[in-house]
Amino acid sequence: MEAAKVEKNNEPIENRKSKIENKLEGRVAIVTGGGRGIGRSIALTLAEEGADLIVSDIDPEGISETAEGVRSLGRKSQAVKADVSIVADVKHMVDKCIAEFGKVDILINNAGITRDSLLVRMKEEDWDIVLKVNLTGTFNCMKAVTKYMMKQRKGRIVNIASIVGVMGNAGQANYASSKAGIIGLTKSIAKELAPRGINVNAIAPGFIDTEMTRSMPEKAREELLKQIPMRRLGLPKDIANCIRFLVSDDSDYITGQVIHVNGGML
Ligand SMILES: NC(=O)c1ccc[n+]([C@@H]2O[C@H](COP(=O)([O-])OP(=O)(O)OC[C@H]3O[C@@H](n4cnc5c(N)ncnc54)[C@H](O)[C@@H]3O)[C@@H](O)[C@H]2O)c1
Repeated sequence: MEAAKVEKNNEPIENRKSKIENKLEGRVAIVTGGGRGIGRSIALTLAEEGADLIVSDIDPEGISETAEGVRSLGRKSQAVKADVSIVADVKHMVDKCIAEFGKVDILINNAGITRDSLLVRMKEEDWDIVLKVNLTGTFNCMKAVTKYMMKQRKGRIVNIASIVGVMGNAGQANYASSKAGIIGLTKSIAKELAPRGINVNAIAPGFIDTEMTRSMPEKAREELLKQIPMRRLGLPKDIANCIRFLVSDDSDYITGQVIHVNGGML
């Protein structure tokens, strides 16, 4: 091969062209909590990159709209109503993916809820449900896709944690515990699955402008902005852009990591 036409690793420069567009062409992804907010932005970004998608959520209208958006980008998509905290629902979601597309390459565990209150007032059911949806839901989905990814000897899992799981936050003991749990889960499963060619990472968003944060009182929002060096809330696409990288071949050697996307807050 002529020296000028190869890079240092002997890869022909010509090969780069195919990597510039549609990096995810032919890949199949599942996005949980894809009915709105960050999940919808992730689904549309993966579609832009060429992936076909199962969009899942407990909100049937939200997922129909997202799936429609994915199809308008020229990709295939099915909306599947599933509660990540219910094992039978998760099985149905993954079965549907295999029936429709024959495989699953990418799982984005994005579904999540909050039930905020101070410890002394926190009801046991608010503790239980947040742990069940956020942490056990992530476990359920990872468990369900892993056997398919192991057979392929390739797969990408990205779990959505939170800055709160690292920093803590008054009034969010349940949520912070669930998100800290997701970080431990991510790091452990990354070690288990690395020899099988499956990368498992987490993203810890700071405060992102979605319905989850829009319910904050105006004053609390103003105080929050002062703590963000970039002086703005994040956008769903700030998270989706990080996902774009973590599910692409460009991040082949990255696993067990928590990527912080927070405008400099931490
Ligand atoms: N918005 C933020 O500031 C922020 C910051 C850090 C982390 N996060 C995390 O990002 C993820 C997405 O958050 P968002 O801001 O888009 O929230 P959102 O409330 O706008 O969207 C969450 C989606 O999850 C779905 N969902 C809830 N319970 C579910 C269940 N049991 N099974 C399946 N789907 C379910 C909801 O219907 C909704 O469509 C969550 O995990 C959240 O904890 C958000």
